[in-house]
Amino acid sequence: MCGIVGVAGRINAESVLVEGLRRLEYRGYDSAGIAVQTAEGPLLRARAAGKVSALEAAMTPELTGATGIAHTRWATHGAPTEGNAHPHRAGRVCVVHNGIIENFKVLRETLQNEGREFASETDSEVIAHLLDRELDRGQAPKDALLAVLEQLEGAFALAAIIEGETDLVLGARRGAPLVAAIGDGVCFLASDIMAIAGEARSVIYLEEGDAAVVRPSGVDVYDSAGQAVTRPLSPASVSMVLAEKGNHRHFMQKEIYEQPEVVGRTLAAYVDAVSGCVRPREGIDFSQITRLFIVGCGTASYAGQIAEYWFEAVSGLPVKVDIASEFRYRNPAFLEGDAALFISQSGETADTLEALRLCKRAGLTTIALVNSPHSSMAREADLVAPTLAGPEIGVASTKAFTCQLSALASLAVLAGAQRGRLSAEQQAGHVANLMSVPSLMAAALKIEQEIDALATELAHASIVLYLGRNEFFPLALEGALKLKEISYIHAEGYAAGELKHGPIALIEEDVAVIVIAPHDALFNKTRSSIQEVRARGARVIAITDEPGASELEGEISAQLLLPRLTGMAAPIVSSVAVQLLAYYVAVHKGTDVDQPRNLAKSVTVE
Ligand code: AGP
Repeated sequence: MCGIVGVAGRINAESVLVEGLRRLEYRGYDSAGIAVQTAEGPLLRARAAGKVSALEAAMTPELTGATGIAHTRWATHGAPTEGNAHPHRAGRVCVVHNGIIENFKVLRETLQNEGREFASETDSEVIAHLLDRELDRGQAPKDALLAVLEQLEGAFALAAIIEGETDLVLGARRGAPLVAAIGDGVCFLASDIMAIAGEARSVIYLEEGDAAVVRPSGVDVYDSAGQAVTRPLSPASVSMVLAEKGNHRHFMQKEIYEQPEVVGRTLAAYVDAVSGCVRPREGIDFSQITRLFIVGCGTASYAGQIAEYWFEAVSGLPVKVDIASEFRYRNPAFLEGDAALFISQSGETADTLEALRLCKRAGLTTIALVNSPHSSMAREADLVAPTLAGPEIGVASTKAFTCQLSALASLAVLAGAQRGRLSAEQQAGHVANLMSVPSLMAAALKIEQEIDALATELAHASIVLYLGRNEFFPLALEGALKLKEISYIHAEGYAAGELKHGPIALIEEDVAVIVIAPHDALFNKTRSSIQEVRARGARVIAITDEPGASELEGEISAQLLLPRLTGMAAPIVSSVAVQLLAYYVAVHKGTDVDQPRNLAKSVTVE
């Protein structure tokens, strides 16, 4: 969370910094700020509560220079006010920071006892004071930075500029992402290469604990021991150019509509449709694995929960799904033959990354199922299983989720084949089923108008319950999460059979209950749950298919008709309905769909 950009040596650096912030706004949008080294000498800064557009309005023409830093914030310590916005200034220094300085209280007290005055409630401000103190002690900028890093506890990425140092930006990362990049006579720092795509020619993916001294002529990198190191240069690919909304009103809508294409692309990376096989993946042999941990956060963890049903049913491989923030602190017990798979769109989610590191330390084979090929998880895991969703900008995950499901379904089939649970014919059946997903999704997207109409009503609901069975239970959790995060409606997902063990007490006249009820083997059981809530006055909306709808006639208030779905394709394609529903409810409520309140796309703090 929080986005950082730094530029050393470019005329009107402020324009690149602001453009970079716009591209990083998905990381947080509570406040934004910029500081530049002006040609006249002083550092100037501007800050504003709210989005980057508010910062632009606050910037004066004098705020111009060749070197500067900028920040978009997701608040951790201190309210999202202008006073708490980055860059923080102390003496000659301006600092931007992403992460949490865990020992900031002790540091702050010491600095205050030395007579230093603090202007914000943030943990980050101590970094500016520490750096300024080291400079006051006569240290050169690089040595001052290294001395500061020794004093900081916690996870962070940071960038700093120093008054009078006209072509210098300092940076460091520990537990939060930061890249350095090189352009023509200009160098950069950024939380995400997307911030400077089009400006940079090559990228240095800084490693854990690295510090960087960035000048227009190049980047010097120092490892956690303060030793100069050479990190590889990677080309800054053109595909990193920022995604555009095109004709769509929101990124989320565009990303929902992209799904047939990106799911097809992801499946093609795993499946050989001609031979009806899932291609083996180098280093992954499920016959040697006796238990698979699947770990992720939020939507990614729901993808893992759906995959648990698949792996166990298709391959007989025992699976344990965990939420990363719980897993990493609960001292999980490992057995010989355990492996762990981590699901993440960003590949940077702090809890998931730490869970991965925990498993690596424990000697498990680790697999990162990630959408960002250069992310920390991709670089640190033993093996990478990619999703090819392309950049996902909307905070609510949509296409990343269905691409995760597509990759997981393919891996479940691979596991079935490698563990001798699937005949060639059965494998080909699963492959054909998965290959039908893109076209079925395209058909499912046609219910947009019905959803729009239904959403008008749902927008007035104060509580929504989502029900499902089997793989549709985690999908119900995902549907409820989507509604919560972008439409701010209190929504909860439940296993339909669990309802009468407590949650049914929530049902009263006109409570909206959305039931994912495909006409599958458990249809009649789901139908009983529908009767139970209906008998208590709930307004039932069924996401179903033709046979399901004809059996439910007269028993429900509204329906969303999906194509007839079978196998692992069913929950993947049904995702479209829960996504569109949340999207249109949010549109009717007039919320900020792509950047909902209090959230950030990439959660790099715990
Ligand atoms: C989903 O809509 C969320 N915004 C969120 O739950 C997200 O899936 C979660 O934070 C995990 O992110 P990751 O996939 O980048 O690790």
